[in-house]
Amino acid sequence: MRDLLALVAKPNVLNLAGGLPADENLPRAQLQECFDAVLTRDGARTLQYGPPYAPLKELIAQHMHTRGVECTADDIFITNGNQQGLQMCARMFLDGGESVAVEEFTFTGVLQAIQGHGAKALAIPVNLEQGIDVDELEYALEKNRPRLIITIPDFHNPLGVSMRARQREQLAELAARYAIPVIEDSPYSPLRFCGDAIPALKAYDENDAVIYLGSFSKMISPALRLGWLVAPRELMPRFTVLRESLDLESSQLVQRVVAEFLTRGYLEPHLEQLCAANHARRDLMLNALERELGGLAQWTIPDGGLFVWVTLPEGMDTEKLLHDALAQNVAFVPGFAFAADGRGGRNSTRGANSMRGANSMRGANSMRGANSMRLNFSNAPREKIADGIARLANVIREASAIHA
Ligand SMILES: Cc1ncc(COP(=O)(O)O)c(C=O)c1O
Repeated sequence: MRDLLALVAKPNVLNLAGGLPADENLPRAQLQECFDAVLTRDGARTLQYGPPYAPLKELIAQHMHTRGVECTADDIFITNGNQQGLQMCARMFLDGGESVAVEEFTFTGVLQAIQGHGAKALAIPVNLEQGIDVDELEYALEKNRPRLIITIPDFHNPLGVSMRARQREQLAELAARYAIPVIEDSPYSPLRFCGDAIPALKAYDENDAVIYLGSFSKMISPALRLGWLVAPRELMPRFTVLRESLDLESSQLVQRVVAEFLTRGYLEPHLEQLCAANHARRDLMLNALERELGGLAQWTIPDGGLFVWVTLPEGMDTEKLLHDALAQNVAFVPGFAFAADGRGGRNSTRGANSMRGANSMRGANSMRGANSMRLNFSNAPREKIADGIARLANVIREASAIHA
């Protein structure tokens, strides 16, 4: 990924590989006001070390209520974002040698957190209509007894799929039955632009098995480096000690600025504007895919978030295609980069077809890593999307003709 990001930094490349909000959709003016207000009002103490900012925890607890999670400020632990939350959870629960159940394609930070603590990712098939395949998960829990489950239920990175309410309920029940903690990694949930809201997985958690990770990165700005986790109270002292060993605490200044942003009521209008912009770009991308690759490729149709997952005919290799696409100044991330088993094949569970019954995907039913790619729609200039997808499609059609 690092090598890829270096390649896409060239000025002419249409970068569909990243996962960022567009610069013009960041709330720069509002943040500037909040920084000024906080520094003027609260003075030098905002520039010191300091404890978690209690009013921010209250505001986060209110936000969690909108996701169906009953909690108070005492259940909230401030982090420097979900990646830190993942690392802290991995450190708390893993000591090497265990396995961790994850979606068969998942955020690279999830894989790094698992592997960095000597554990092994156990790839669970995903149904692109419903999210993680709960039957396959149950089978894997029974057979492999993983130490943890890490899942991304909302607008999954990289698949774009969201777990349905029924699956959330079932997963929460499974976690309780097998006494396996679940990490709900949810940085994208506030980025819904269509479809009905679905409560957080933690909203179905009657047995305190779920730790929820939330972040301001995608809803306000990645540079804030601020997030939170919602965890059972008995774990809080352990999180406190663990966090002290990492970086003591989150920035006083940033915590107060985010609290100011929320208190001034800037979040709702900002999210409305951001989601509308993302929606328009998603539509431009989906329309271009239909025009250029209809009948040849399949893709997910996300209701929010930042990503579309495209699957090419069996046997095609998106890693090889990337070189040709870069020569045409278009970048994407090849699917294998997200494969929990390192290859994007299926060898960890019963080998069933995870696309059973899926209808949120255009076309038929293959989802292996080697012939898949992740496309980001949020950060591509609107006027360049159609042309970029046309150039990518040319590369794909040529490779497909050779392949055939
Ligand atoms: C699923 C997922 N989790 C966590 C993160 C990292 O989030 P944060 O910026 O809050 O550390 C990302 C960022 O892309 C992500 O896609």
